[in-house]
Amino acid sequence: MTTRTWDLVLFGATGFTGALVAEYLSQHAPPELRIALAGRNKDKLEGVKRSFGEKGARFGTLIGDSSDPASIAAIATQTRVLCTTVGPYAKYGLPVVEACAKAGTHYCDLTGEPQFMRRSIDGWNATAQSTGARIVHTCGFDSIPSDLGLLTLTEFLKAQGRSGQLERATLAVLKLKGAFSGGTIASLFNGLEEAQADRSVRKVMGDPYALSPDRAKEPDLGRQRDLTSVKYDDFLASWTAPFVMASVNTRVVRRSNALLGYAYGARLDYREVTALRPGLKGLVFGGVMTAGMGALVASQFFGPTKVLAQRLLPKPGEGPDKAARDAGSFRMRIEAKTVEGDRAHAIVVGTSDPGYGETAKMLSHAAMCLAMDEAKLPRRAGVLTPATAMGMTLVERLRGAGMTFEAAMGAR
Ligand SMILES: NC(=O)c1ccc[n+]([C@@H]2O[C@H](COP(=O)([O-])OP(=O)(O)OC[C@H]3O[C@@H](n4cnc5c(N)ncnc54)[C@H](OP(=O)(O)O)[C@@H]3O)[C@@H](O)[C@H]2O)c1
Repeated sequence: MTTRTWDLVLFGATGFTGALVAEYLSQHAPPELRIALAGRNKDKLEGVKRSFGEKGARFGTLIGDSSDPASIAAIATQTRVLCTTVGPYAKYGLPVVEACAKAGTHYCDLTGEPQFMRRSIDGWNATAQSTGARIVHTCGFDSIPSDLGLLTLTEFLKAQGRSGQLERATLAVLKLKGAFSGGTIASLFNGLEEAQADRSVRKVMGDPYALSPDRAKEPDLGRQRDLTSVKYDDFLASWTAPFVMASVNTRVVRRSNALLGYAYGARLDYREVTALRPGLKGLVFGGVMTAGMGALVASQFFGPTKVLAQRLLPKPGEGPDKAARDAGSFRMRIEAKTVEGDRAHAIVVGTSDPGYGETAKMLSHAAMCLAMDEAKLPRRAGVLTPATAMGMTLVERLRGAGMTFEAAMGAR
């Protein structure tokens, strides 16, 4: 691996999120880390480099197109880590996973597409295990706060002399201020189209253990349906509404639990919701948000509303500007009950737009962690999750970069 030309290649650097990740790396990666920006258009890549002034001069450039597997294989064999923001991943991602799994190259991405992750596991987990590649999906807002939040909580419990085994845990989004980019909208709509056209995709999306390493071993806790309406939650002692990323994050956390030998609990009931503020205002907000999410999804099932939504929403390459990203933030709380009957909680906080400011930070640190912290990482390879691939080493990095991951005993 040390004979490779690059330590880290960022594929998709010309996209909206890719350029933010490149900018973050230009400001925070140590100078000795050999980084190249990759994409399908040389002039666009040079433009991204130039936009960082002197700090961009350190980057090499590489050309690759995911519809040309040989070009992706050539990139994967030249680098120790390949970080990709080329999405929708269900459309463009699998050749990149394949190339990294075969070449023993560590990989990280920003996907939130369960059907793509299932294909990646089924197709390339065994190969990646044999070559030593860590293939790590969901290294952005979905699903690092959930995945590393639960890890932080169970590690804290173990440090307190408890087993760390949970009976129940619910992540409540307390604050979420941010926006969507065109690429995220395209990935969401692509997932809906695939689900409409293909029953097997609908089956994966409806399965609480969609990403399980061994489906037959998972506990039978019923359908564990993600919340779809406003509802009072006794465990949280709060009114709640759906959380848009729950159907992805819960699957990732359940995969982490299974890959860790059910270290979070053999019969863990894990959920994600939005917690509403007390009073009528909170309920109205929850109702409007739930209806808005439903309308966005429903718009894709009828020709005229589909065209209208696609005209009004951001296009690929577009997203929130710097002022909007700086004004964003998120705060989450994971409430848990251990198998011993104790209550404990974790807090996860990010201080800029979750999907772009904080996501650029999370993905950049995931990539740097794979490239620089190998000796401190759990000894695992294959298609992994952030918690199982990088664990508390990544938590420490993100704390150092200004994010909060804290845990304490007791309920809210
Ligand atoms: N998990 C999270 O929290 C999170 C947050 C943000 C984004 N995302 C995900 O990240 C992905 C990118 O989002 P975005 O808004 O940055 O999208 P975007 O602006 O549309 O960028 C897409 C990138 O993919 C490249 N690309 C497209 N087809 C390609 C191909 N065949 N070969 C090589 N490159 C190709 C584009 O290159 P050109 O410039 O040449 O067109 C561009 O660099 C989406 O899947 C989105 O859902 C996730």
